[in-house]
Amino acid sequence: MREINASIPFDKRMWRQDIRGSQAHVAMLGKQGIVAAKDAEWIADGLAQVADAFEAEGVPDDLALEDIHMLTEARLSEKIGPVAGRLHTARSRNDQVATDFRLWVRDAIDQVEAALDAFQEALLMRAEEHAATVMPGFTHLQSAQPVTLGHHLMAYYEMIGRDRSRFADARARMNLCPLGSAALAGTGFPLDREATAGALGFDGPTRNSLDSVSDRDFALEYLTCASQCALHLSRLAEEFVIWASQPFGFVSLSDQWSTGSSIMPQKRNPDAAELVRGHSGRITGALMSLMMTMKGLPLAYSKDMQDDKPPVFEAHDLLGLSIAAMTGMVESATFREARMRAAAEAGFSTATDLADWLVREAGVPFREAHHITGRAVAKAEAENLRLDQLPLDALQAIDARIDGRVYDVLSVDASVSSRTSFGGTSPMRVREAIAAARAAREEN
Ligand code: ARG
Repeated sequence: MREINASIPFDKRMWRQDIRGSQAHVAMLGKQGIVAAKDAEWIADGLAQVADAFEAEGVPDDLALEDIHMLTEARLSEKIGPVAGRLHTARSRNDQVATDFRLWVRDAIDQVEAALDAFQEALLMRAEEHAATVMPGFTHLQSAQPVTLGHHLMAYYEMIGRDRSRFADARARMNLCPLGSAALAGTGFPLDREATAGALGFDGPTRNSLDSVSDRDFALEYLTCASQCALHLSRLAEEFVIWASQPFGFVSLSDQWSTGSSIMPQKRNPDAAELVRGHSGRITGALMSLMMTMKGLPLAYSKDMQDDKPPVFEAHDLLGLSIAAMTGMVESATFREARMRAAAEAGFSTATDLADWLVREAGVPFREAHHITGRAVAKAEAENLRLDQLPLDALQAIDARIDGRVYDVLSVDASVSSRTSFGGTSPMRVREAIAAARAAREEN
């Protein structure tokens, strides 16, 4: 029974939040005259001593005391004696744990926010450096049109920006305080729930006591945001794995963010990127785990809900590592510009530019231009040439309306420079996007 019942081995991670919640609760009890003012002070002082002891010695896995809430109270009574028994007036572990966990998840979001901010800074820095570095853009992982590396990195900047706004939304929605809901029905004591909510940095108290003790949406939302963010990191991680492979050779990972092989001396393996890719599965698994835990629970509290913490803690640790690893990889990677350029030039990636030129300069309908370009690509492929290496007479043999000006658009540089639509890949647009991102960051 002890083993199945106890949550102390994992919920001790919330000891700081537990102390904070108790401090706010007892201060309010004193102010409201529910406990004598001097007892409240005594308890507050005792809680500070318990916190110091936890800080210095750690929190023991005392299974007999079941959870962090019982352990903190037991330590408190060791320090200050029977007056400790007044702390739990007008409170239940049900509203206590709901409060502690919200505080913990809120702190977790603040940590993720800071880490994502640093990651975005790394993306911006490298994007700035490579605003005009040409690489192949892919669809179906086939060379499609040339893009710039800066543009590609800024795509991730956008994704992470949306992730941050999702975390911020979740934080704003969860920022109401369940404390004072007691076991499930509220309490007859004259509490000041506004006061405890304010003291703990919440916008106000939750509105329904049954909902307060049974709601774990805030944890599910955290996991949803974490899963989405991990998914984005996983896509970049996968690109690093591909780019670092020898046939691609677009990127060389730094020594700090790669590993060797115990048998093959030449290896520089992208383990961290692979683990970011792998961790995203575990983070999404944590979301599924808590959804399954919650899906059939009647109101209000059931002990199943104690299983809410391990998936959230695990997901948070994995996400923190994943963000740090991707930040380190982005900051320290060497992008191999010549390889990227050669790959961009190799795949007939300016075929669309030839078709667009025929439309623009020779008035050819796009469908026909597409067909003519297809024949030019076939010719170039047969001759083992790039499109811009096909002699003019060969192009004119395919369509007489082509003239020498076409070479202005067939290079990969001309191609990327021409993509000036808002949000497009031209270096000018990429630099604008970076400047806009910098300005928005300064405003925040
Ligand atoms: N350890 C419990 C949890 O994490 C605390 C709440 C216990 N409440 C109860 N009614 N047994 O959920």
